[in-house]
Amino acid sequence: MSEALENELLSAVDAAGDEAALEAIRIAELGKKGRISEMMKGLGKMSPEERKEAGPRLNGLRDRVQAAIAAKREVLAEAATAARLIAERLDVTLPVRQGAASRGRIHPISQVIDEITAIFADMGFAIAEGPDIETDYYNFTALNFPEGHPAREMHDTFFLAPDDKGERKVLRTHTSPVQIRTMEAQEPPIRIVIPGKTYRQDSDATHTPMFHQVEGLVVDKTATIANMKWVLEEFCKAFFEVPQLNMRFRPSFFPFTEPSMEVDIQCDRSKPGEVRFGEGSDWMEILGCGMVHPNVLRAGGLDPDVYQGFAWGMGIDRIAMLKYGMPDLRAFFDADVRWLEHYGFRPLDVPTLFGGLSQG
Ligand code: DAH
Repeated sequence: MSEALENELLSAVDAAGDEAALEAIRIAELGKKGRISEMMKGLGKMSPEERKEAGPRLNGLRDRVQAAIAAKREVLAEAATAARLIAERLDVTLPVRQGAASRGRIHPISQVIDEITAIFADMGFAIAEGPDIETDYYNFTALNFPEGHPAREMHDTFFLAPDDKGERKVLRTHTSPVQIRTMEAQEPPIRIVIPGKTYRQDSDATHTPMFHQVEGLVVDKTATIANMKWVLEEFCKAFFEVPQLNMRFRPSFFPFTEPSMEVDIQCDRSKPGEVRFGEGSDWMEILGCGMVHPNVLRAGGLDPDVYQGFAWGMGIDRIAMLKYGMPDLRAFFDADVRWLEHYGFRPLDVPTLFGGLSQG
């Protein structure tokens, strides 16, 4: 009977598939209330002769089962370790997967905005922003566009549907409305640049319905055209990263400035597909500017007999194309990762005047 039991137990131990199954057998047989333990408790009730025979037999049985369990436990532990080693194997020869910071790219527009604001921040300018959806008042009227003035059409404005009061808001056609918002909100001296999105109904290789401008505004008691020329010249040299650059101020017209000028910078376009700034005998228009019109100062709540100022506006997309040699503006908004990979900038290469604007 005990040999049959021993065979049964040893084959159960042998068949245990994992350490939990093995432990269940141990408790069932050798635990406090286990089968073998119960049998050993029975020894006390036996006659000495019976005990003499049964004692060593049961002890032997217990020892052999215990030994079998210990041996099996070792085998199972080894198998578990081997399985884990296979499951958790790392191929250390695989290339390291690139993280977001090294794979992502900064869009050239964002980069150029950072470059522009770094240059003006260094000259003591603050950044101002305003809403993309503007009222007719801020976009036109306060900037001295008379009602029905053809310049309102010139802007190819996107109008929104009239609201409850019949007012038609517009998608701002330029960043100039933020001039008025800033004058209303803060006392001179004002020195701000206003980067942002602007909208006009226009679409070809160099025009998109949404584009970007950066506006500048200085208002003070003594701000002059001479100050403006210096600021713009320093900006152009820093932005195009050239030590010297000739500029040409041509008379022009904007309703919000008087006098108004357009600015051309010196360039060389003799090599096809390449523009070099600060050399050559060609000119390229890059911005509009002028002295803030007295009506605009008044609209901003300032007395034109006390304050005067200058302002300018510039297309960001266009100067980004010029600086980085990107031929088609529409590609800026295609969200093609191959284009971004080529023209984009690394996220940690933040443009600074001391570290270099564009080198990364
Ligand atoms: N707002 C003008 C435009 O969108 C650009 C401009 C010209 C802005 C002259 C100015 C300025 O502040 O003085 O075409």
